[in-house]
Amino acid sequence: MGMEIKTIGVLTSGGDAPGMNAAIRAVVRTAINKGMRVLGIRRGYSGLLTGDAFEMNLRSVSDIIQRGGTILYTARCPEFTTEEGQDRAVKMCKELGIDGLVVIGGDGSFRGARDLSVKGIPCIGIPGTIDNDIAATEYSIGFDTALNTVLQSVDRIRDTSQSHDRCSVVEVMGRGAGYIALHSGIACGALSVLVPEVPYDFQRDIVDKMKKTLKAGKQHFVIIVAEGVGHTQELTKRIEEATGITSRLTVLGYVQRGGVPTARERIMASRLGYRAVELLANGIGNRVVGLQRDEIVDYDIVEALKMVKHFDIDLYKMANVISL
Ligand code: ADP
Ligand code: F6P
Repeated sequence: MGMEIKTIGVLTSGGDAPGMNAAIRAVVRTAINKGMRVLGIRRGYSGLLTGDAFEMNLRSVSDIIQRGGTILYTARCPEFTTEEGQDRAVKMCKELGIDGLVVIGGDGSFRGARDLSVKGIPCIGIPGTIDNDIAATEYSIGFDTALNTVLQSVDRIRDTSQSHDRCSVVEVMGRGAGYIALHSGIACGALSVLVPEVPYDFQRDIVDKMKKTLKAGKQHFVIIVAEGVGHTQELTKRIEEATGITSRLTVLGYVQRGGVPTARERIMASRLGYRAVELLANGIGNRVVGLQRDEIVDYDIVEALKMVKHFDIDLYKMANVISL
């Protein structure tokens, strides 16, 4: 790229995630320590269209590392998916004096960043979504905190499930991906984990497992279902009818999107934010930063968007063996 980047913008886009503030903090602190100016853009790409920007300094990001949500707010901005909207965003960047942009969000946000890059605004994507469904990275900001929120909630549900000898079906988030379901299912010791990536057989994967373990003395059950599988109310009813065990559904919903970021979350977000600014400071744009085998990596944004994330079927099989 070679271009001298002196002023950067930073925004959060798409679904918010705990840890985004830690990333914003790392971006601001790293940039200012490299002699750059930082403009915070509010409400994702819509902030670029409305010019909702403000200068940030070292103190702008004090006392936020421990807070969920995003101090820059986030939004979905359909207008930005149009050529006209993007051209307006580029014009606004020029008016604001922004030479480079850090976008914290998911795949959709990265597509927007790609389009801006093509139009001459160097962008770096930082993966931020609790779904952890971004192919270019093993970790996206929000995932660890969401897992721990599910854990705390399911541990509570276990108490009442045990007291009543019940089957508790718990629906978790993930849009179209089963990463929260798989990892929380293992951590919670769920009897079965249902994910959109792997078709399941109601009789074999649920009813037979419950009956088999009942005989072995198991008295209550937790089943984790990713929201992408769907029909959890009906599934819960079918389980009760098929097994005679009282079954109750809990849809965890938006508690998974908030909360105090975990230590791993804050460290990951800080490392990703730091690398994003290092790239821009070296005049490098159009990249996505990520984690691969505990190393911070970066990929060309177009390449990153072409990558396909492979569901860990071995981990899925393990989950279903150790739950019996
Ligand atoms: P996430 O970034 O979490 O995947 P979305 O898919 O909702 O969230 O995308 C967030 C925003 O990114 C959208 O509101 C839109 O402004 C922008 N965006 C999404 N897809 C595209 C696209 N194909 N081209 C340009 N911008 C996009
Ligand atoms: O992408 C993160 C996520 O929380 C998904 O898990 C969920 O399906 C979706 O966002 C909900 O979208 P919204 O916040 O727009 O209702």
